[in-house]
Amino acid sequence: MQSIIFSFFDSAELATAIAKYCHYEIGEITLRSFPDEETHLKINSNIKDRNVIFVANLVRPNDKILPLLFAAETARNLGAKSIALVAPYLPYMRQDKQFSVGEGITAKYFATIISNYFDSLITVDPHLHRLHSLSEIYQIPTFTLHAADLIADWIKNNVTKPLVIGPDRESGQWAEEVAQKVQAPFVVLEKNRKSDYLVEISIPHLEKYKDYTPVLVDDIISTAKTMIETIKQLNKAELLPPICIGIHAVFSGNAYEALLQAGAAKVITCNTIRHTSNGVDLAEQMAKEIKKINL
Ligand code: R5P
Repeated sequence: MQSIIFSFFDSAELATAIAKYCHYEIGEITLRSFPDEETHLKINSNIKDRNVIFVANLVRPNDKILPLLFAAETARNLGAKSIALVAPYLPYMRQDKQFSVGEGITAKYFATIISNYFDSLITVDPHLHRLHSLSEIYQIPTFTLHAADLIADWIKNNVTKPLVIGPDRESGQWAEEVAQKVQAPFVVLEKNRKSDYLVEISIPHLEKYKDYTPVLVDDIISTAKTMIETIKQLNKAELLPPICIGIHAVFSGNAYEALLQAGAAKVITCNTIRHTSNGVDLAEQMAKEIKKINL
């Protein structure tokens, strides 16, 4: 029987686009809170013996996870053949190690919870820094898509003479791949994060790039401090106002506005998290992957 797609938490646009490409049915689920804020949910579509796909925007995940797991359990009880989670932005990937005694390794714990409720996971450019692959922490098959090709296409179509910049060593992996595809020069900067909101960036001599458009590329923009500090340094070096590209538009608080105010010429993100800055559409790529793995 044909697979069926359910959308969770502001994912309707993406889920509908995927369903259209794959010719899958969109499932109907009602999720609401009781007055005491506990969750009531009801799956209204027939899912017995069908492959079920949940598309979920999991940015700011804490309030979403319990309803999501309840929905997965409900789907299981209703006889779903398999349940795949499409989480284009995969949260809880940054605390992948104990930096000081007593800290929880939440990337690992989150992976275990998801692995207990879903049969597979599809995501886009997870923040793999010290981990090499999701299989190190997830116990289910995982499928990872990369936004580099489409980001490179966006740069080719919109920027003349780009200089691709990775604001820190971690972002280097994404920025370098994009730079190669665009065939543009590439530099990676040094970052020293002193706290959540305090970041120092040092840049090398960039005089020879004064007539280039700097294009900052990073996987996540959260507080935007990484990009804002980079812009300050680029200004000091008298480079042109940069275009800031992030894969995942996490944007805590007023980070997006602050980034524009800091002097970004443009802010572009992928639609892994719905946001006004979305300029790179990954729906078709996700749909193709879902088809390929035969869901
Ligand atoms: C670093 O670990 C990531 O690649 C990003 O640079 C980081 O998440 C950006 O965070 P923020 O926007 O809070 O500076």
